[in-house]
Amino acid sequence: MSLIINILDVTLEKKILNVAIRAALASFYFVGKKDKVSADKAAVDSMRSELNKIDMKGKIVIGEGELDEAPMLYIGEELGTNNGPELDIAVDPLEGTNFAANNLPGALSVISVANKNNLFNAPETYMDKISVNLTDPNIVDLDYPIKKNIFNLAEYKNTKPENLTACILDRPRHKEIIDELKKLKVKLKLITDGDVSGALLVTDEKYGVDIFLGIGGGPEGVLAASALDAFNCNFQGRFLFKTEKDKDRANMMGIKDLEKKYELSEIISGDSIFCATGITSGDLVKGIEIKDNEFICETLITHKSRELKKIITTKQKI
Ligand code: FBP
Repeated sequence: MSLIINILDVTLEKKILNVAIRAALASFYFVGKKDKVSADKAAVDSMRSELNKIDMKGKIVIGEGELDEAPMLYIGEELGTNNGPELDIAVDPLEGTNFAANNLPGALSVISVANKNNLFNAPETYMDKISVNLTDPNIVDLDYPIKKNIFNLAEYKNTKPENLTACILDRPRHKEIIDELKKLKVKLKLITDGDVSGALLVTDEKYGVDIFLGIGGGPEGVLAASALDAFNCNFQGRFLFKTEKDKDRANMMGIKDLEKKYELSEIISGDSIFCATGITSGDLVKGIEIKDNEFICETLITHKSRELKKIITTKQKI
């Protein structure tokens, strides 16, 4: 692993973990209440208030949207006591609003922090993404046809395409990709929502996913990339700017080349801490359970410089 300068303090890990857990608990009350707005708001309010207690000069780079759309955790919002390290913060307080509202598997509270200017300031648009558990950059590429990616990956893994599993959001826009994967006899894992988790299913063999691909949210792509970096996996993303408003925002954010394919190292660099706490049980982590008057929470936590990447269980008194 390359030497990381300016590492994030280990005490910050616990604080960020606490932020993710508290947001998950705040949202948990709304699980199954058919009210995704309130479920999201509870997680947002909690995340913002907990982040403001941390000794840091924090700035939201991925949040709930632009200032005109989001009163809290908007892109550019400064958080923390203004005392301490300068940090970039990416949040998705409730990833999978439908999952939470309908009490379905996979709702998460997600956050990532890095030193200032080390986390990509991504616009609120779609992103074409791909993730694999490889460090060799020449095997799988966003610009290769699906067939080439699958054959290369199968060859690299010394297996056949029919033994590979591809995870992709189940959306009409993916019809062509899904048809091609079917033709290649690749096993599909179609997800209805939640592509932060989808992209992270390549990190461990136990999830049985060899490649994640397709178009989902750009912010979700950046969050997934920050965890994939700690797992030494590969990720590429290309933003899709459809409307003139999207293009203007990209220009304002300093994005000159709207077609650019971003490598993982351009999305996240240096040290980072990532936490994803389960609200409802999903592929990645279990949801919140209540036992003996305690909330039991599972969180996937990574801290790049410490090579920390594990699922931890915490208990909070009710
Ligand atoms: P929300 O939590 O904001 O509802 O997002 C869920 C999600 O499935 C993301 O994981 C994904 O990136 C995005 O929506 C896909 O967007 P769309 O539903 O428009 O295809």
